[in-house]
Formats: sequence, structure tokens, C-alpha cells
Amino acid sequence: MLSRLIYASAVDDALQADELNRMLEHARHRNGMRGITGMLAFDSRHFLQVIEGSRRALSDLHAALLRDPRHHDVQLLKFARIDARLFPDWSMGFMPADLAHRTMVARHAPTPHFDPGALDGESAEALLVAFGAALAERSAARPLA
Ligand SMILES: Cc1cc2nc3c(=O)[nH]c(=O)nc-3n(C[C@H](O)[C@H](O)[C@H](O)COP(=O)(O)O)c2cc1C
Repeated sequence: MLSRLIYASAVDDALQADELNRMLEHARHRNGMRGITGMLAFDSRHFLQVIEGSRRALSDLHAALLRDPRHHDVQLLKFARIDARLFPDWSMGFMPADLAHRTMVARHAPTPHFDPGALDGESAEALLVAFGAALAERSAARPLA
């Protein structure tokens, strides 16, 4: 049963950039094997993540996320059965904090700063879709190496 899960969490103070990069690489590899796609937004204080895949795979990942000491205060914002993925192309897209990000937060969120725990499921999903569009645009604009 294809499903979508969205959650927000608070970043652990000790999390370093290289640890985050390693985590992301590992997550992409694992997600690829489990048929999970999605997007992770990060602003150094919070995470907002959407994961899409089978209900079984999402339940297992959610359980692992709750045990992960690299973040805390994990809040489930949405869990729904879906007909199609919103993020079919990314084993885990990553949206770092930058101006585009803040601009979109201002457009979609009830607070001017990035506070994903304050979002309802629909606003969180709309924000992640906007991030996805910006990320796709940025990737398309980047010259091929
Ligand atoms: C913010 C955040 C996002 C994560 N996203 C994923 C992910 O998309 N896929 C994944 O496999 N692990 C992800 N992880 C890592 C998992 O929490 C967990 O460490 C990993 O799935 C390995 O679990 P295991 O030790 O039970 O095998 C994430 C961790 C954090 C802190």
C-alpha cells in the first residue's frame, strides 16, 4: 500500500555537517533498496522530512527515526495512503537553508521562521512540494560536470 509520511524534528546540538552528509548518503542507499523516495529539509535547528513508499517500509523507517539520537522531538505531521508519489525521482532530496528556502517558508508557513513543528500536515506537504520544485530548478540550472 503506497503511503506518505511527513514529520518534523529538532536537530541534535552535536550534529556536525560531515555527519549529516554521511547520514544522507547512507539514507539514499538504504532508501534505494527499500523503494523509498522523499525529501529532507534542514535549517541547522530543525528537520522536515517526507518519505514515500510501502506502508511496511515507512513504518520500519519511522521506528528507526524515533530511535535516532541525531534528532529529537519527532512529531508526526501526516501519514496517508497515496495513489502516486510527489517525489518519485529522489531517494532523498536535500534542501539546505538558504534564501530561496526562507522565502518559501514565508509564503507557506504561519511563522516567518522555519518552525516545521508548527505546521499542519497539509501546509508541511505544500512547503515540501515548493522545496522540491526549487531543488529541481536548481539541479537543472547546474551545468553538467
Ligand atoms: C533527520 C534524519 C533523516 C533520516 N532519513 C533517513 C532516510 O530517509 N532513510 C534511512 O534509511 N535512514 C534515515 N535516517 C537514519 C535512520 O534514523 C537510521 O539511522 C537508519 O535507517 C539506520 O537504522 P538501523 O540502525 O535501525 O539500521 C535519518 C536520520 C535522521 C536523523
